[in-house]
Amino acid sequence: MTTIAQPIGETSGPRRYQLFIGGKFVDAKSGRTFDTIFPHDRSVQARVAEGDKADIDAAVAAARRAYDDTWSTMLPQERAKHLHRIADVMEQRAMDIAALETLDVGMPGMLATGMVMQAVEVFRYWAGWATKIHGLTSPSMQPGDYLGYTLREPLGVVGGITPWNGPFVMAAWKTAPALACGNTVVLKPAEHTPMTAMELARVAADAGLPEGVLNVVPGFGPTAGAALAQHTGVEKIAFTGEHVTGRLVVQGSVTNLKTVTLELGGKSPHIIFDDVDLETAVANALFGLYTNTGQICSAGTRLLVQKSMYDRFVERFVERSQQIVVGDPREFTTRMGPLVSEEQLLKVQRYVEIGKREGATLACGGGRPADPALANGFYHMPTVFSGVDNSMQIAQEEIFGPVGVVIPFEDEEDAVRIGNDVIYGLAAGVQTRDVKRAHRVARRLQAGTVWVNTWHKIESNAPFGGYKLSGYGRENGPTMIEYLTRLKQVWVDLNEFTVDLFGM
Ligand code: NAI
Ligand code: MG
Repeated sequence: MTTIAQPIGETSGPRRYQLFIGGKFVDAKSGRTFDTIFPHDRSVQARVAEGDKADIDAAVAAARRAYDDTWSTMLPQERAKHLHRIADVMEQRAMDIAALETLDVGMPGMLATGMVMQAVEVFRYWAGWATKIHGLTSPSMQPGDYLGYTLREPLGVVGGITPWNGPFVMAAWKTAPALACGNTVVLKPAEHTPMTAMELARVAADAGLPEGVLNVVPGFGPTAGAALAQHTGVEKIAFTGEHVTGRLVVQGSVTNLKTVTLELGGKSPHIIFDDVDLETAVANALFGLYTNTGQICSAGTRLLVQKSMYDRFVERFVERSQQIVVGDPREFTTRMGPLVSEEQLLKVQRYVEIGKREGATLACGGGRPADPALANGFYHMPTVFSGVDNSMQIAQEEIFGPVGVVIPFEDEEDAVRIGNDVIYGLAAGVQTRDVKRAHRVARRLQAGTVWVNTWHKIESNAPFGGYKLSGYGRENGPTMIEYLTRLKQVWVDLNEFTVDLFGM
């Protein structure tokens, strides 16, 4: 049976979402479904078709047909128009999509709206690039008249695998640039938060994107995700998630040696020198740590504070952490919502216990809010550990929740050493008024992004990705075109008379 996904806003019973394959909304071949819940109260928000290998096969076949028949040969300005249309429809529906993101992830409305608008911008940015992707000419370096040029060609079918922490904008990152470069896409959203990826499918369908150009198959990692990673009909996987899963994706990719880009977690150092204004530094650190309840790969979770201001900083940071309004993410006043899932809450609780056992000082938080209205949700209070040594587990491992550790350092040398002493290298930041020091430290930090006196600045036009176990490849910005196309070198002999080397 083919039906259209239920309109946004219907509240009688859970919404229903089907898979989006070849331009149609269809049930999973197995007939199976799974539920997605609101982390605030565990209420079922949607019943979602559960795709697995068979559905991934169908989606890849549809994407391949669309690639061969329409998308790869379409005029670039036509592709650009499609991306613009998607952006326009998305923008019209932004508030509804943001509301769904809040219900799926538990993120406050303001943040969800910001992220949806970022996704709109991602599509507009890449619509611009669709007409500007081309190769170079290469003059012959040796005697003779030859024409050499490169053709920059799309890869084919690109698979996107996304996490649950910013589902809509992640779906945009995996989709828009791949389409702009002439690829077709199969997207596998995270099982915890499939709703807005299905809304992206609806936007694409309603905006008139040719069938099969974008396919969305929600399902679980070990089934649908693994099938996509291993598929021999897929030329590239763009993955965001944890590094353990990233390794599985790379292992899966060997079937056809597809290329992979990996955006994996982080434990980003936020270095604060004693020349800063305390209030500004604290505000920036709060933003870096607690945004989206700490569930951001580039969160500033390791606060490195110069010894001379350590106590002052901790005192004020703790004070401000305790004032954060934790609550129902649908409330306008809420600044921090619940964690995404029970699993994630248990993980945070486990790390709080580990921190105590390791001898760190629990300076605030450490438990669940007292408000009985929040008892059924996956809430956890903003939590700060002080007196932390960088070798502790809570300083080394990604917690992915509202838990910060504050580590003292002596001087610039010490700050850089501690900052880099971690397996990850996604982001890092430095707060100082000393311009020279800011740039020196930025140069020495091993991270894909360095923020100076700011945090979470991520734009469509600037590369984002990791060093070390935070992955490889970059998303956003012109660099990404390299990862979504391949080069062909063409040599043409223009000489009127060709030397006949094997002639008699
Ligand atoms: P995950 O890495 O397990 O899942 C991310 C995506 O990969 C999901 O779509 C999942 O279905 C898929 N997946 C899982 N197993 C797979 C497999 N064998 N083959 C192919 N795809 C597979 O992340 P998860 O479990 O959702 O979150 C766990 C931890 O990962 C978090 O606590 C956090 O530390 C980290 N994380 C990092 C994120 C980031 O932005 N870098 C985002 C989300 C989580
Ligand atoms: Mg997992």
